[in-house]
Amino acid sequence: MHNSGQHRITIANTGESYDCRSDETLLLALARVGKRGIPLGCRGGGCGICKVEVVSGDYSTCAMSASQVDSAERQQRRALACCVFPAGALVVKVIGRLEKNICRPLPGQG
Ligand code: FES
Repeated sequence: MHNSGQHRITIANTGESYDCRSDETLLLALARVGKRGIPLGCRGGGCGICKVEVVSGDYSTCAMSASQVDSAERQQRRALACCVFPAGALVVKVIGRLEKNICRPLPGQG
C-alpha cells in the first residue's frame, strides 16, 4: 500500500514544525505551508542551498549531487531538503544557505 501519510517535521533551529507528506519533499512542503523567504533553488539536488541535517527520524532521499553532499556528510545524515522524503516524524537542523532565511525572514519580498 502506498504510504502517503503526513509526517510532522520540526525545524531544530527555530522550534517551528510543519506537516510534510511522505510523497513530498521537505523543501516543497515548507514552501507550501507559506514559509516566506524560502530560496527555492534548483529543487533537484544540485545547488546545495537547502542542506539540512536530520537529527532524528527516518527518511529517504532521491539522487543528490556528490559535490553537494559527499559520503562523509551522508553518514552524518546530511541531505538536501529538496531531496528528502520523510518516512516518519523528523527533526531537522537547517545548515545550508536556507538557514539565514529560516531564522531571519527577508523584509519586503512578496
Ligand atoms: S534546492 Fe538546490 S539542492 Fe535543494
